[in-house]
Amino acid sequence: MTTTTTGAAKEHHLDLAHLTRPDFPLLDQSLHGQPLIYMDHAATSQKPQQVIDALVKYYRCHNANVHRGAHTLSARATEAFEGARSTVARFVGAQDSREIVFSRNATEAINLVAYSWGLDHLKPGDEVVLSVMEHHSNLVPWQLLAQRTGARLRHVGITPHGEMDLDHLKQLLNERTQLVSFVHLSNTLGCLNPATEITAMAHKVGAKVLVDGCQALPHQLVDVQAIGCDWYVGSGHKLCGPTGIGFLWGRQQLLQTMAPFLGGGEMIAAVQLEKSTWAELPHKFEAGTPAIGEAIGLAAALDYLSALGLERIHGWEQQLTEHLFHRLQAIDGLTIYGPDPQRQPDRGAMASFTVAGAHAHDLAALLDNSGICIRSGDHCTQPLHQQLQVTATARASLSFTNTMAEIDHMAHHLQEAVTLLRQDGEPPLP
Ligand code: ALA
Repeated sequence: MTTTTTGAAKEHHLDLAHLTRPDFPLLDQSLHGQPLIYMDHAATSQKPQQVIDALVKYYRCHNANVHRGAHTLSARATEAFEGARSTVARFVGAQDSREIVFSRNATEAINLVAYSWGLDHLKPGDEVVLSVMEHHSNLVPWQLLAQRTGARLRHVGITPHGEMDLDHLKQLLNERTQLVSFVHLSNTLGCLNPATEITAMAHKVGAKVLVDGCQALPHQLVDVQAIGCDWYVGSGHKLCGPTGIGFLWGRQQLLQTMAPFLGGGEMIAAVQLEKSTWAELPHKFEAGTPAIGEAIGLAAALDYLSALGLERIHGWEQQLTEHLFHRLQAIDGLTIYGPDPQRQPDRGAMASFTVAGAHAHDLAALLDNSGICIRSGDHCTQPLHQQLQVTATARASLSFTNTMAEIDHMAHHLQEAVTLLRQDGEPPLP
């Protein structure tokens, strides 16, 4: 889709890879006899020692259930867990830590809004506007909800550059639109969607706005109040934190009006045999024992990213992305899906691509033999791949721990893999 060749980076940002690599023990190993090169950060990020230490320290020294015991360990665990909530609140620019609800992952956070808000608000004829570039986690919950409420789903298309088609969005918005839910930074196209502008357009017709921030949060500063949206979701394991922890940010007044999602311990004020009353925010939405260690690990990850500085992370990753595009575009028959960094400098640090005569899975398998981890497949965006008329793409996704030399090494081995697969002469897998 993008064909222009990028030039050398104009600005030079601090090389964060050399600064941070000693913090990431996993990256210091060989794979199939070659130094490991990890370029699958959009699927999950690696964890700095600081996060591993925080998890170990919690389990070695402070492990207890939260909000329950009068004993000292429980008080310590509660303090650390609620402290983690405040850290998340600061990270996204929330007004108050009560606006942060911990969830298992971002998918669960979207489902929370779909069921708590959607079931009570959507009725036949109402419209929910999504986009064709959404991850399955921002498509399927709304499909389930539409089946139950009779609401209609509308999908914003993409432009030939692989960006959200804002003219199409404008056409779709009307007085029936109750919700616009969209991805901040696409995990496949890498485009950064203008969240503030889209939110303003949606609010103009009275719709609520949910933003999926999983891929944006690890790479650039996000301020939910500046965006002006109503809900924003994130995922811990994509932010150098542990798996099993995600969060929902929501406007306090809105969260107050929403019914609980899951019922059980922790989320109640008082329970009788026939009925119960609910705890205050955010506990109303956190049934059962939460992921305490994981929340504490997530806070350590956010502290790590904040200490590095999201602006510095973004600056270095922009430089890496320009180089990635430059090297990939030199490969004959390679097509990248999504905007070029010269068109969209703030785009994500990744590239999804196909190569004529070579299947994405074969490319990923051959690169793996050389110690290089990239993802191939549909990246949980099957409808987008259908639009792009490809069954699978290969995706190299970077982080601040990657180096220019790793990009060169990957591009060299990718070219070798392409040559081998073409020589092989076997038709690519369907
Ligand atoms: N959503 C994750 C990805 O893009 C799993 O790979």
